[in-house]
Amino acid sequence: MTTAVAHPNIALAKYWGKRAGAGNVPAVPSLSVTLAGLSTRTTVTFGGRGEDVIVLNGIVQPAGATARARALIDSVRAAAAIDGAARVESENDFPTASGLASSASGFAALALAATRAAGLDTSVADVADLARRGSASAARSLFGGFCELVPDEAGARAAQVAPEGALPLRVLVCVVTEDAKDVPSSVGMEQTRAESPYYAAWLDAAPRLFADIRAAVVAGDLAKTCELSERSALAMHASALAAGVVYFRPVTLDVYARVRALRAAGRTAFATMDAGPHVKVLTSADESEALARELGAVPGVLRVLVARPGPGAFVP
Ligand code: DP6
Repeated sequence: MTTAVAHPNIALAKYWGKRAGAGNVPAVPSLSVTLAGLSTRTTVTFGGRGEDVIVLNGIVQPAGATARARALIDSVRAAAAIDGAARVESENDFPTASGLASSASGFAALALAATRAAGLDTSVADVADLARRGSASAARSLFGGFCELVPDEAGARAAQVAPEGALPLRVLVCVVTEDAKDVPSSVGMEQTRAESPYYAAWLDAAPRLFADIRAAVVAGDLAKTCELSERSALAMHASALAAGVVYFRPVTLDVYARVRALRAAGRTAFATMDAGPHVKVLTSADESEALARELGAVPGVLRVLVARPGPGAFVP
């Protein structure tokens, strides 16, 4: 039995779209920041009888809803030549509707706990690869600070680009709804690939945005990192919008408008968003508390979580 802890991450340079074929390989490179203060804690036990059991936040999950997690467990069981069923217990200390993807921290914690519970001393890079097959963004949560996920001939490789202290960045998560139902990212990106007239433009632009964001992070240039991250998110959503994949709600646009107004008044404030209507505002450590209050005053914003760069997944 082994317990592992992982934190969610937010992509600064977005991943959107998969390479053709099996293996869940992203079509574009991405770069994220792992967030402290919010955690998934997952315990895996091998050696049970009967079927595998997966319990999320205290609720036993039906097999259909957890196929990707079951596939991960099967591959670990095969690699370690283990018989017997697995029991997985996973808890998030942040609400599923918080605007933070629980699949990233969830698959990162699961991959680490499952390999260690099976007695495998798989390298962190290979644990990240296992997590990536469950959910590509999860590969990045194995590493702390700023992390890239780069597709290559063999699949995709995750690695740390810069440590937690490289930039005084804060992420203000503006939660705009308690409703967790949106088009899941894997569905939205497939619809974008199949139907968007701008998907080719996204595939063309994303690697350049990634390279420029990576350079800004490595150079410690906070303003440039935030500015380019906003562009990456807007380019991703523009390609998705053209396929009818719409994650914006009226309040999302209101937060974007407030961010632009704050910027016009000289503040560091740039917006990014994922497969849901919540807006994550990128700012500096110094400005974060005041900015969180101002964003919390936008009608329709339910609460604002302030997150800082955090560590990679670990066994406590
Ligand atoms: C918009 O990693 O959730 O958050 O690989 O299908 O599980 P799957 O997709 P997922 O997609 C994340 C999309 C994103 C951008 C990002 O995190 O890079």
